[in-house]
Amino acid sequence: MSKSFSYREVYEQSISRPDEFWGSAAEKILWTKKWEKVLDGGNAPFYKWFSGGELNTCQNALDRQIAEGRKDQAAIIYDSPVTDTVKTITYGELLDRVSIFAGALQNSGVVKGDTVIIYMPMIPEAVVAMLACARIGAIHSVVFGGFAPNELAIRIDDAKPKMLISASCGIEGKKVLPYKPLLDEAIRIASHKPQHCVLFQRPQVAADLIAGRDIEWSVFIQNAKPAACVPLAATDPLYILYTSGTTGKPKGVMRDNGGHAVALKWSMEHIYDVKPGEVFWAASDVGWVVGHSYIVYAPLLHGCTTILYEGKPVGTPDPGAFWRVISQHGVSVLFTAPTAFRAIKKEDPNGDYRKKYNIACLRYLFLAGERLDPDTYFWASDLLKIPVIDHWWQTETGWPIAANCMGIEPFPIKAGSPTKPVPGYNVQILDMDGNVLPNGQEGAVVIKLPLPPGCLPTLWRDDKRYLEYVTERPGYYVTGDGGRFDEDGYLYIMGRIDDVINVAGHRLSTGAMEEIVAKHKDVAECAVLGADDSLKGQVPVGFVVLKAGVERDAREIVSELVGMVRAELGALACFKEAAVVKALPKTRSGKILRSTMRKIVDGKDYVIPSTIDDPGVLTAIEASVKTIGYGKKD
Ligand code: COA
Ligand code: AMP
Repeated sequence: MSKSFSYREVYEQSISRPDEFWGSAAEKILWTKKWEKVLDGGNAPFYKWFSGGELNTCQNALDRQIAEGRKDQAAIIYDSPVTDTVKTITYGELLDRVSIFAGALQNSGVVKGDTVIIYMPMIPEAVVAMLACARIGAIHSVVFGGFAPNELAIRIDDAKPKMLISASCGIEGKKVLPYKPLLDEAIRIASHKPQHCVLFQRPQVAADLIAGRDIEWSVFIQNAKPAACVPLAATDPLYILYTSGTTGKPKGVMRDNGGHAVALKWSMEHIYDVKPGEVFWAASDVGWVVGHSYIVYAPLLHGCTTILYEGKPVGTPDPGAFWRVISQHGVSVLFTAPTAFRAIKKEDPNGDYRKKYNIACLRYLFLAGERLDPDTYFWASDLLKIPVIDHWWQTETGWPIAANCMGIEPFPIKAGSPTKPVPGYNVQILDMDGNVLPNGQEGAVVIKLPLPPGCLPTLWRDDKRYLEYVTERPGYYVTGDGGRFDEDGYLYIMGRIDDVINVAGHRLSTGAMEEIVAKHKDVAECAVLGADDSLKGQVPVGFVVLKAGVERDAREIVSELVGMVRAELGALACFKEAAVVKALPKTRSGKILRSTMRKIVDGKDYVIPSTIDDPGVLTAIEASVKTIGYGKKD
């Protein structure tokens, strides 16, 4: 499996002989006990990878790297323009910090199989906490710092953590956001109460501690002895990561230890074409799957240096921030979301900031998290003159489903396509009746089971909901995206065909926002849709029908709704606009005509659906979207 084999050969082997393929990839991981079966389909559609095997992910990420001579190599470069800090942590130092923190976790009673929630900003302590959990077999669940207390509470009640680990504040551009009040509020709302909270005090804000429950990080690790790695079954959970589904209840995507380590290590060589010792930068957040996989686990499992960047693409301090980091730290591969490039392009359209830095070290730019629009692709490609690789994946899979695999056989790039299915993923396009569609025809993008290693084996304590992914189209995992293959076998992802939207690369549920909006006392009915946005890809826009007799000022109600979504879901939702309408367009059977509404909001032509109950409602919707700045421009 290297550049000496063609993509076709590697791909065919991965699909027709997965045992051989992944068994060979697994040789690159250190096992304390070899697996008995590579792929165990005994309880399909719940597949297991490497059953019978034992390993420890933290051991592979740290101890093993040190044993192979990386003790003094930088493991993490923490680059934080918002605090004016650059710090290097070597593999040796990281191991010391992780094993001490793991020892402290053990002292406080956290054992294998316990859950721990980590609600932290982009600081090294977040990575230390994750790896320390992995070291002792505790299951971490990192919650993105931008989520409001209510969302954190939902995750606390689902994961039932023994412990919560947090910091006194996050820093977003120029804003310092105290975390502790959010944490306290979340614990107050949640029914499950964690036994302890460990707080890392940042100099910008001192958090008040609740005696008996809260403990300061430095006190927590006092007297702790370094903990050894606990051997874990390949199938034991490493982490839970909540992601938006189509309802208000997030899905707890579970990740195992064995398949995850094997797949991520394989991806570094074959997709990203990066070598041990090189600097890999995923400009994302540890709260998202990109952060889990490509800030923390994959770079360390592969012996790379990872960059932990606490800043934004623009404004910290300027649109040259990315070029500064690349040149200062010798980044070989950058991975970020297209929205970050759109933000840079908006502020520096001619790429003048790029010219200030020598970024000859950069070999590839990988983009994912949302559709890479051709404009952004061409702009980035002209600016950088290196391969700009669109690749498609999801929280559920944990690593790319489709990509231009730079470590196997680079293909010519077609703008708008993430190229071809990654080995291991048997991607198909199905029509409404479940028939496989030929190239050229658009339908539901599915993956024939089994999914490769590293993908979700199930949802946390919710096998039933997991089955929804794999039973809607029997034999396939339904991705929720629509798309097609072209005549050359390139895949095109056209967007979600469910109620999930992507705002600045953040996955959000319109259903969750509707649940919040519907709680307003004056709202009779509502719909939230994703409207096209030139910077963030999509932004949510609401439509509300008021209860009969409500005569209040509509703008006042809308501003209350905006406040509610911000308070209950978080500022990251970017829910900033809603139109008050007399009625929502529906079919005669009462289904809201969302795709027609989306076309109206985006100012596109549409056909009046034959199933519509009252076509007049659409004319009214067209008029109302104009009043809030959407729809066709005159
Ligand atoms: N903690 C607290 N609040 C946060 C947060 C965090 N970690 N992340 C975002 N927010 C808040 C922001 O402060 C902002 O609040 P505001 O409405 O009070 O200004 C709101 O959520 C929206 O944030 P964002 O969407 O990030 O908008 P922005 O205008 O601050 O920045 C971009 C725009 C494009 C620069 C930014 O979205 C970006 O860098 N995107 C890249 C996304 C990414 O890396 N995604 C990961 C997938 S690979
Ligand atoms: P998340 O789980 O947050 O990673 O979001 C996954 C969703 O983001 C996918 O189902 C897609 O809708 C979208 N997405 C991610 N990467 C891409 C891409 N390269 N092209 C198009 N859509 C993408």
